[in-house]
Amino acid sequence: AATRHEAESAPATCDGLIESNHAGFSGSGFCNANNAAGAAAQFTVTAPAAGAATVNIRYANGGTSSRPADVLVNGAVAHAGSAFDPTGAWTSWVTKTLTVSLNAGDNTIRLNPTTAGGLPNLDYLEV
Ligand code: GCU
Repeated sequence: AATRHEAESAPATCDGLIESNHAGFSGSGFCNANNAAGAAAQFTVTAPAAGAATVNIRYANGGTSSRPADVLVNGAVAHAGSAFDPTGAWTSWVTKTLTVSLNAGDNTIRLNPTTAGGLPNLDYLEV
């Protein structure tokens, strides 16, 4: 079963604010990272063995443009400019699924936005 890593809970980091003003999130809030390229969120996940892993990222983007982000695993870009498309409202949360290659043990997964809009609001990441 997947393990949920809330964006508002350490060791996750958020280059912005933890907020709770848009309903529908899991846990106690979400990461509203700053609207800037490079304003990132980072998660630490633990894999039992090396290999491919499915990552579910729950987010909301109430804006009108996609908010692309590089997805870095242990500091290396695994998916460049991955799209986080508009969801229609800040209260409309959706899950985006990616596959990444993890090491056995702890790994960092960093979402690093590539445009001035920054990241969407992030609820959690599951691996
Ligand atoms: C609004 C919204 C925020 C969101 C921001 C954005 O201010 O309330 O939750 O993060 O837009 O555009 O990123």
